Amino acid sequence: MDDAARGKQAAARAAVALIDSGMRLGLGTGSTMAFVLDLIAERRARETLDVVGVPTSERTRDHAARLGIPLTDLDHVDALDLAIDGADEVATGTLDLIKGLGGALLREKIVQQAARRFVVVADEGKVVTRLGSHAPLPVEVVPFAHAATARAIAALGIVPRLRMDAAAPYRTDNGNVIYDCHGIDAAGAPAALQSRLLAIAGVVETGLFLGVTERAIIGRADGGSTEML
Ligand code: 5RP
Repeated sequence: MDDAARGKQAAARAAVALIDSGMRLGLGTGSTMAFVLDLIAERRARETLDVVGVPTSERTRDHAARLGIPLTDLDHVDALDLAIDGADEVATGTLDLIKGLGGALLREKIVQQAARRFVVVADEGKVVTRLGSHAPLPVEVVPFAHAATARAIAALGIVPRLRMDAAAPYRTDNGNVIYDCHGIDAAGAPAALQSRLLAIAGVVETGLFLGVTERAIIGRADGGSTEML
């Protein structure tokens, strides 16, 4: 396991300690969340941990189902007690996020919106002072005329690149495409950029998660973790 993976596992361990029996959980997507799922299953093997999860992707649904974690969806529960998810960037101070390099940003945001508490798990390499410093901003776009939507995105002064999967455009679980947008760190305040992006017909959602993180648990390679509140 490399340093980043050890950090992800450490963050996951601290987040799983926040889970109480009876909770309805939002289950995010990605390699850090894979550790969370494994550790939930480990706790369920050792103790009574009566939880039900709402997965944010088919990948998470499959992994959780293989581990025997009970699952439901937001048509069957009205609210979630706690959602746990990874991030591609976590901004110091605000705890604003870039998410979606794993492609699940739309369902992740729907699940986050339904949760009373939203906790982020990440390794130290994800912490930035300014969003967009390392990661591009994923923007989910409907397939119809997506190149025209990309031109409207580019007019905001950022650089959208269509995400590919081998020779074809990558498709999300919702059947949409993703444009990974570069240069957002120079495009002004994230909240203003978010409003401008969402005002473009064809844009479904962006990977900006602003003002929603209760705490970010940042895991270190030495197995410890720090909470950013
Ligand atoms: C998926 C996401 C992930 O949470 C994000 O990409 C972080 O992934 P990882 O834990 O593998 O670094 O937003 O859409």
